[in-house]
Amino acid sequence: MAVQINPSILSADFARLADEAQAVKGADWLHVDVMDNHFVPNLTLGVPIVESLRKATDIPLDCHLMIEDPDRWAPQYAEAGAGSVTFHAEAAAAPVRLAREIRHQGARASMALKPATPIEPFEDLLPELDMLLIMTVEPGFGGQAFLDIMLPKIRRTRELISRHGLQLWLQVDGGVSATTIERCAEAGADVFVAGSAVYGMEDPAAAVRGLRAQAEK
Ligand code: DX5
Ligand code: ZN
Repeated sequence: MAVQINPSILSADFARLADEAQAVKGADWLHVDVMDNHFVPNLTLGVPIVESLRKATDIPLDCHLMIEDPDRWAPQYAEAGAGSVTFHAEAAAAPVRLAREIRHQGARASMALKPATPIEPFEDLLPELDMLLIMTVEPGFGGQAFLDIMLPKIRRTRELISRHGLQLWLQVDGGVSATTIERCAEAGADVFVAGSAVYGMEDPAAAVRGLRAQAEK
């Protein structure tokens, strides 16, 4: 299980996105948080910025859509050049059709679960996905405290993935830092999103290396 570190540009300077993408050399993916002020009480960016960002960096884009009606919008992010597109289970009307559409556009299909959403009802959908995202904070803002109570869900999800013999990646997002990443890795996560623990540091690239070392312990 290879560890992947995905810095979240939500904690970067939005006026200097191209430079901020360059500042995390060595990262596996750049995590792009799309918020619509309906699914979450915050507003960030949309398709045009994803298109521009894709041209500004070689790091593939991991788009996390915290939006209503992902059935309509998610394929457009794949078309805009995102390498991975994550929609929320709570917002998708037809998650199987949507995952297939994202894959059809050439991107990895991923589904996210808010803290209060259990994994069990989605067990049969797992083969349709390339990644599952377990939120370790309530989505909407960077810099929130990691929810330890999510560790059992990470563990149960890892067990389900193994039991079905699937290859899908297990991502955690929210409050991931040098002090919490080991617990997530131990519970079975292999893709780690970190906003403030990367961009809040003086040397973001060094922060990425530090997080990787902690997760690989
Ligand atoms: C929160 C976003 C996260 C956020 C994480 O809703 O999905 O990706 O950027 O920020 P930190 O790592 O600071 O909790
Ligand atoms: Zn995110």
